[in-house]
Amino acid sequence: MTHTRTAVRGGLVITAADETHADILIEDGRVVAVAASGSTVAESWNAERTIDASGKYVVPGGVDAHTHMDFPFGGTFSSDDFASGTRAAAWGGTTTIVDFAVQTKGQALREGLDRWHAKADAQCSVDYAFHMILSDVNEGTLKEMDILVEEGITSFKMFMAYPGVFYSDDGQILRAMQRTASNGALTMMHAENGIAIDVLVEQALAAGRTDPRYHGEVRKALLEAEATHRAIQLARVAGSPLYVVHVSAEEAVAELATARDKGLPVFGETCPQYLFLSTDNLAEPDFGGAKYVCSTPLRPKEHQAALWRGLRTDDLQVVSTDHCPFCFVGQKELGRGDFSKIPNGMPGVEHRMDLLHQAVLDGHISRRRWIELACATPARMFGLYPKKGTLQPGSDADVVIYDPQARQTLSAETHHMNVDYSAYEGKQITGQVETVLSRGETVIDRRTYAGRAGHGQYTPRGLCQLLD
Ligand code: URP
Ligand code: ZN
Ligand code: ZN
Ligand code: ZN
Repeated sequence: MTHTRTAVRGGLVITAADETHADILIEDGRVVAVAASGSTVAESWNAERTIDASGKYVVPGGVDAHTHMDFPFGGTFSSDDFASGTRAAAWGGTTTIVDFAVQTKGQALREGLDRWHAKADAQCSVDYAFHMILSDVNEGTLKEMDILVEEGITSFKMFMAYPGVFYSDDGQILRAMQRTASNGALTMMHAENGIAIDVLVEQALAAGRTDPRYHGEVRKALLEAEATHRAIQLARVAGSPLYVVHVSAEEAVAELATARDKGLPVFGETCPQYLFLSTDNLAEPDFGGAKYVCSTPLRPKEHQAALWRGLRTDDLQVVSTDHCPFCFVGQKELGRGDFSKIPNGMPGVEHRMDLLHQAVLDGHISRRRWIELACATPARMFGLYPKKGTLQPGSDADVVIYDPQARQTLSAETHHMNVDYSAYEGKQITGQVETVLSRGETVIDRRTYAGRAGHGQYTPRGLCQLLD
């Protein structure tokens, strides 16, 4: 570390709790003091390096709790690995990702986890942690879950979708939930009725409906809502908390709201693609809709109002990206003539902070809610707070200097994700990340990459901090 004491001065420091004109003192990778700009305390700091943040926001590094680097799907792998994906995250002001390690069928959790450590080790520009995907819930898996919790893997994702691949049946889900009820971990659920969806897929293809837009039509909002309802009831029976990933349907938000009104420990996440894109994109001509194929699918525009409302009323608590990019050429194209063969997933890890800042300007959320949804709550949800997600003495010095007035146009020409298209091509955004520190080290320096693969550390997590 070249600079042991850094002062970030003159910015508007925004956390989930507060907005103040304050200076921040960083030493040995941590925030050691926060004091009003111009105060005698702040003026007394003797720092070797000063970052001038006047006119800028100073916010905690983003925590993206849902990414899939180098993820196997549909006979291919997502096109960002941990090196390229975490570099792109840094460009976008995200300094922690929580990626999904995968247990494949017949495999022990340990094998899947070791594989993910090998993928990420010495590759990352920013810090990372893991959830574990359960694809084979059996006696061995259940026992291993307890061991993983001790190692800081405190959340397990199951799928009610993708029969024959990641799918778990209700009995497996109930058993895993019972296990998390006893070991304190959080169950994460991909809530879509995959068995019913597969019937509709078969019928659509038999009727010659092969275009990407039919991906959105067969994966019905009601089948997301049904699975969400079922997951909630199973979690109640098991006595476990539940986190529903990538919520996209208004009807699913309603299920979460009903559960939360009863006081149940049920949480929901949505993603920028559901807030900013719609089935109009899936209908783009010349197979262009394939760029937007993900599950849950994009919905008709009318669903967006319910998602924004859920984010304001706290029926949805987290915005993460579900970053799972596949290049159009050679990957999305696998599904020409059969939408069910298009690998599911979209790029996004670089743009979450910016899109949510735009949402502040558009009047959907407040500045503090921006930071709560993108930094503080994901850190709390997944046992990383206050090390991550805020800026207080003792927090890691994951700091973003954000220029709220800069204008940018999102494009595949200029983004840093390893994918040949942008889901937001041409979209104009006001606001841009200027400088990013990760544990006090400069990763982005006034819009130049200054980081290095291997700086990012594996970060074991505690239990969910939203349950007391
Ligand atoms: O389409 C998506 N979301 N791909 C990644 C896997 C998942 O379901 O999260
Ligand atoms: Zn120095
Ligand atoms: Zn999913
Ligand atoms: Zn995902």
